[in-house]
Amino acid sequence: MKNRLTEMLGIETPVIQGGMIEVSLSGLASAVSNAGGLGTLGQRVDIKLWHDEIKKTKDLTGNPFAVNLGLYLGDVKERIKIILEEGVKIVVTGGGNPSAIIRELQDAGIKTMHVVSTTEQAKKMEDVGIDIVIAEGGESGGIVAKNIISTMVLVPLVADAVSVPVVAAGGIGDARGLIASFALGAQGVQMGTIFEASVESSASPAWKERILKARECDTMVNEAGALHARVIKEEIFPGSVMTGQIAGMVTKVEKVSDIMTRIVDNVDTVMNGINVQLK
Ligand SMILES: Cc1cc2nc3c(=O)[nH]c(=O)nc-3n(C[C@H](O)[C@H](O)[C@H](O)COP(=O)(O)O)c2cc1C
Repeated sequence: MKNRLTEMLGIETPVIQGGMIEVSLSGLASAVSNAGGLGTLGQRVDIKLWHDEIKKTKDLTGNPFAVNLGLYLGDVKERIKIILEEGVKIVVTGGGNPSAIIRELQDAGIKTMHVVSTTEQAKKMEDVGIDIVIAEGGESGGIVAKNIISTMVLVPLVADAVSVPVVAAGGIGDARGLIASFALGAQGVQMGTIFEASVESSASPAWKERILKARECDTMVNEAGALHARVIKEEIFPGSVMTGQIAGMVTKVEKVSDIMTRIVDNVDTVMNGINVQLK
């Protein structure tokens, strides 16, 4: 499939695996990229380990992949140096304002993406020259905005507010979610939770097991200082397993290639099942 997003990123299928700190390492990111989507190498707090993961991802896939750059980390300058040295082509920023670094990345031929949770943030990002915005609703796993807006509400508003391509994220798990996102004005989707439980994910077997067991009502938003994170409820699983509401759809640990094939194969069925005639 071809649209503005796939052309900009050089990918076949408009499905992005969202960066997941310590969970989406080289194995997962390369598997998604090898399956025609865009894998994103997640953060590693240790910069050396993170650098190694970039090198490994380059070895494991010849297809485009993205690197997640957390702006809250103290060593952003060193990380940018590594990104430039390693010839990374796509960077997803999060956890801060990327306006001071967008130009430097773009001058090196890098496409920049940023995660937003309001239309105001999306417009600001467009103003500072971001290439693509990821509109993430509060259904998602991981860090969420304090004032949660659902994907259904956020995506059409962001699509109306900016002219750069919009990627929908939060609560998307299959071809139905992909088609719905197109209807809302997005050019593609980003999924985290669905890939968190995949074979190639670096989450532990016990962690994956909890995701399989979790129903859509088994997550909550935890407040940790200024941050809010969607996690599996404490009474169900003590500890802090970040996952999204769409965990309710995950029933087995699958290979990334099977997840991606199912999405692509079901697009026609979903489209053929839509027959809206209101008059
Ligand atoms: C375990 C976990 C860790 C995550 N870590 C990050 C992160 O470090 N940076 C980031 O931008 N997004 C992070 N996310 C968000 C994902 O990249 C993605 O946008 C989100 O999971 C999409 O919603 P979904 O979980 O409903 O599919 C994380 C999500 C999960 C589930």
